[in-house]
Amino acid sequence: MITSKNNINSNSPIAFFDSGVGGLTVLNKVKKILPNENYVYYGDTLHMPYGEKTKEQLLEYSDNIFKLFEDMNCKAVVMACNTTSSVIYEEVKNRYNFKLFPIVQSVSEILSQLPINRLGIFATRATIDSNAYQREIAKYNKNMQVFGQHCPDWVHIVEENALSEQKNIEIVHKDLEKMLLNNPEKIVLGCTHYPFLLEILSQFAPKEMFIDPAESFAKKIKNELESSGLLNTETKNPTERFFVSSNPQLFRQSAKMFYDVKETPELLTFLNAV
Ligand code: DGL
Repeated sequence: MITSKNNINSNSPIAFFDSGVGGLTVLNKVKKILPNENYVYYGDTLHMPYGEKTKEQLLEYSDNIFKLFEDMNCKAVVMACNTTSSVIYEEVKNRYNFKLFPIVQSVSEILSQLPINRLGIFATRATIDSNAYQREIAKYNKNMQVFGQHCPDWVHIVEENALSEQKNIEIVHKDLEKMLLNNPEKIVLGCTHYPFLLEILSQFAPKEMFIDPAESFAKKIKNELESSGLLNTETKNPTERFFVSSNPQLFRQSAKMFYDVKETPELLTFLNAV
């Protein structure tokens, strides 16, 4: 049962959402530095991959999810999804009754300060087409060259828990080879699903070359909640609640590399989102 809204305080939950298991790479980092919070997570597996969806579709899916989070009195919502941060954040940022944290906008300043000139970004088609990373990084550093490349198969590989299949290792290798033609000094894993593929990527290039922005994102979330007086100081037994829009068992299985989802997620779909 979902409780009704309008009583947000520091004990209220922090909500996360993504198209599937990707956002767990962010939840994992946030939970390490904020272990006393109550968490809610929504994985919109029915509509995955978000990277192939239009802006209108993303607005519709996220509106349903955000209203759910409002009904659950969430104090903050983490857009643990580069695609929605890139495509719809500006439009929705003042629409809801909670603090909204977008990943791309939150980590670009840190990325802009890297002591390098050539930065690669692996991300979904929608994130790359939006040029959000280029735009945000250029606000702080106009000299950094940013090369975006989309990787159409990677989200499916992660969601289907098919990381060990040889054909998938070859797909990841091929995409990496293409990016390396730009001679990037570092490559950002600009989709929250991609850190699941770090072990494969590091078979073909040094691990230190890849940046998972989740760590600096998590620090930023902590600092901002702290300065708004919203950190949970009371909860002794924090709770976690997971929702998905399809295939709860597969979600739990695919999640394992990053997160131990203790109970099978609750199945929750919205009638207007087809
Ligand atoms: N994990 C999300 C992102 O960071 C969405 C991936 C997808 O569903 O295409 O962009």
